[in-house]
Amino acid sequence: MSHAVEVRDLRKAYGSTIALDGVDLDVPAGSVIGLLGPNGAGKTTLVRILTTLLRPDAGHARILGLDVATQAGQLRPLIGLAGQSASVDELLTARENLRMVGRLYHLSSRVAERRADALITRFELDEAADRPVKGFSGGMRRRLDLAASLVNEPPVLFLDEPTTGLDPRSRLTLWAAIEDLVEEGTTLLLTTQYLEEADHLADRIVVIDRGQVIAQGTGDALKERVGGQVVDVRVADLAAVEHARSVLSALTHEPPASEGAVLSLATDDGVATLVRAAQKLEAAEIEVTDLAVRRPSLDEVFLTLTAHDDEEPAR
Ligand SMILES: Nc1ncnc2c1ncn2[C@@H]1O[C@H](COP(=O)(O)OP(=O)(O)OP(=O)(O)O)[C@@H](O)[C@H]1O
Ligand SMILES: [Mg+2]
Repeated sequence: MSHAVEVRDLRKAYGSTIALDGVDLDVPAGSVIGLLGPNGAGKTTLVRILTTLLRPDAGHARILGLDVATQAGQLRPLIGLAGQSASVDELLTARENLRMVGRLYHLSSRVAERRADALITRFELDEAADRPVKGFSGGMRRRLDLAASLVNEPPVLFLDEPTTGLDPRSRLTLWAAIEDLVEEGTTLLLTTQYLEEADHLADRIVVIDRGQVIAQGTGDALKERVGGQVVDVRVADLAAVEHARSVLSALTHEPPASEGAVLSLATDDGVATLVRAAQKLEAAEIEVTDLAVRRPSLDEVFLTLTAHDDEEPAR
């Protein structure tokens, strides 16, 4: 399979801060990769290197066969980027911004105008198109940013946290726009801190933490990798949660996590743990309203994968 993006042992430090610590990555043409990681993981650094805005200290990255460091000029017309902070000009209107981007890509003014108009309609910005961007809502800005990254019709697109800070409705609108692009065959690398987003949009998720890829695969494969099962216990009385925790902590390595009245036990044998939990709780006269075995959620997988040794309580 041909890879639209190929990254080998990429390294970057800012002074003594290591931002990328040997990253390898392949993105098959036409696929969507979700780069998932917490704050400071190195996502933006990687995106900036891949979009030729920043030079790596070591390692290689090729996009459509072109080296990001030595063939940047040839590569730039073939990629699009919607960065983490908006790159549009506040004083210009949406339409003016898009036309300006077109001119930066050396499109003729007629082509730039035609593409600007088409993108405005596509991203439902018609009504606001001729107003200065400074009055735009967060969702409108994000849509305009995405539109701006598409003016040159790039075959490979990078979106750095496209929906951070958006309300759920704006997020869904943006997701739909992104899904349309992908259907047209655009290769997409998007970064996100939201598992849900990576799971929804990406064919493959790459988890990055402290400058290293710590896991990758489909959402399902990642859940599988962390393995095991979770037993959820809902106690009838919120005040009984701590009592239940102490009763149940004998059953698993880690004490049960809890949220509200639900305690969650990580285990390798869900059914056996469920039965023993029921027995222990009954013996302790703690009333239970629900008991269930399930697979870990992606959020739990993410927390497990990014758990740092130095953040674990001392034993
Ligand atoms: N210009 C810079 N100068 C110094 N350190 C930097 C610079 N840019 C990033 N860093 C550091 O490099 C590391 C990786 O940062 P990066 O912005 O790539 O992370 P990120 O995954 O995009 O985080 P976020 O989710 O917060 O956007 C962090 O420790 C960050 O503090
Ligand atoms: Mg970032």
